This record gives sequence, C-alpha cells and structure tokens, in this order.
Amino acid sequence: MSDRVLSTTPPRLETVGLSCHFGGVRALSQVSVCVADGQIAVLLGPNGAGKSVFVNVVCGELRASAGRVLIGGRDLTHSPGWRLVCHGVARTFQIPRPLRSCTVWENVYGAAGRVREPSAQHPPSARLRAEQALARVGLLHRRDSLPDCLSLAELRKLELARALALAPRLLLLDEPMAGLSAEEIDDTVGLLTELRAQGMAILAVEHVMRAVLAMADSVYFLHQGSVLRSGPPAEVLADRRVVAMYLGVPPGAIAG
Ligand SMILES: Nc1ncnc2c1ncn2[C@@H]1O[C@H](COP(=O)(O)OP(=O)(O)O)[C@@H](O)[C@H]1O
Ligand SMILES: [Mg+2]
Repeated sequence: MSDRVLSTTPPRLETVGLSCHFGGVRALSQVSVCVADGQIAVLLGPNGAGKSVFVNVVCGELRASAGRVLIGGRDLTHSPGWRLVCHGVARTFQIPRPLRSCTVWENVYGAAGRVREPSAQHPPSARLRAEQALARVGLLHRRDSLPDCLSLAELRKLELARALALAPRLLLLDEPMAGLSAEEIDDTVGLLTELRAQGMAILAVEHVMRAVLAMADSVYFLHQGSVLRSGPPAEVLADRRVVAMYLGVPPGAIAG
C-alpha cells in the first residue's frame, strides 16, 4: 500500500518551500515544516535565523514570497489572522502584547469572544473558555490586575491564556520561556506536554535546551533563513554544525 493510502489525516501544520524576502534580504528560504496533531515541534536557531519571520508568515502577518502554508490540509497561505483563528490557529508573541489598558480578564475574555461558536450542541461560552484558559495557566487570581502589574512570567502566562481562549488546535509559540526561572520553565513544559496529550499540535521557537529535550518530538534548526538540520532533538543537537552555530565557532574547530 502506498503512503498516500496509509496517511489519511493531513498534518495540522505543513509548510512547503516557505520563503520570505525583504528586498535583498532572504529572511526565510524554502522552509518545509510538518507538525501533526499531538506533536510538539521546536524551531531552533541563532538570533536572526528567521524563526520569528517563519511564525509571522504562517500567521499571515508577513507575506510569503513563495511557498505554501497548509493547515489541516487546507491551503491558507496569505490568510489574515482572523481567518486562521476560524481554522484553529493561535499564537503568542516573543514580546508579550497585552492590551495595556485592559485587565487580565478583559484581555482573555476579549480573545475568547473572537471565536465563532462551533456548531456543537452545547459549546462552551466565551466566558467559560476565558475562565478555563486563565485557570489552565494559573492566572485566575490575577484576573483583575492590569498587565503593567504582572511579572514577566505572568505576562507570558497571559499571552498563553489569550491564545488558549481561542480554543486552538495549532498553537504557535515564539520563545514562550525566554526570561523564565527554572521552575517556571518546568511549569511551562508541563503545560505544553499536557496540551499535546490532548491532541494539540504545537510549534514553539525555543532556546532553553532542557525544555527542548524534555518536550520536542522534532526539531528544525534554522540558519540564515534555511533549515540546516531537522529530526529528533537528540540527533539535531548532536550535529556538529548545529553545535558550531550555537557556540559561534566553525564546525572544523569542534573535536569528534
Ligand atoms: N519586517 C522586516 N523587514 C525587514 N527585515 C526583517 C523584518 N523582520 C525580520 N527581518 C530580518 O529577517 C531576519 C530574521 O529575523 P527574525 O525572524 O526576527 O530572527 P529570529 O530567528 O531571531 O527570530 C533578520 O535578519 C531580520 O533583520
Ligand atoms: Mg525571534
């Protein structure tokens, strides 16, 4: 039997030859990534490698110069964010972007209200979805606070709660653990692996190696806009070129 017959479910996210050029700058070049339901893929790479550009092109915030973005098998290249929400896509930003004049609750409830109620007989209301999202990230007790009163860890939780309130099937996270303590990183890894166990597909830009090894099913290492190496985390992180990129030394200088 051919692979085509065997694989009946399309990946939750598939990019095919995705490219994004700014004038002469090739920020992203022919990037093909695949994330299935119930999987966590991690995007690695040095600063300026194109990780955020990738997330922004998938989310329709930057325009692809070439290539395709398929969500659940449907071609949604160049789709605006609101349309992607309808297709179960939610994201967080590298630098948290709360509405500063709104409370934690208003931020999350506002996001929940963007979801068109599904056709299920008793869909959870926006209010319930917002409450569940805040409880999930452990931020219910801060519901009446303004974002400016939150710590960085709490701001990252708020960012995640706003995404979860959209009831996504695909979650795109841009450095969700940057600046967090070891304990906060472990909490976030725990939450993401729980979401994976419930069938969510997650693509995370992440630098914290402990977290990458603990949660990634697959890793894509980007360098100068292209995938230098992809595969299981242990394999990618053992690649001498990958190690060299991270340490900033030429591959030949690394023994072994
Ligand atoms: N809107 C933009 N206009 C021009 N160049 C950009 C823009 N956004 C990103 N770039 C460039 O694309 C490259 C990749 O950036 P980015 O994806 O933010 O890197 P990172 O891997 O650190 O997230 C960088 O050289 C950056 O300067
Ligand atoms: Mg970035």
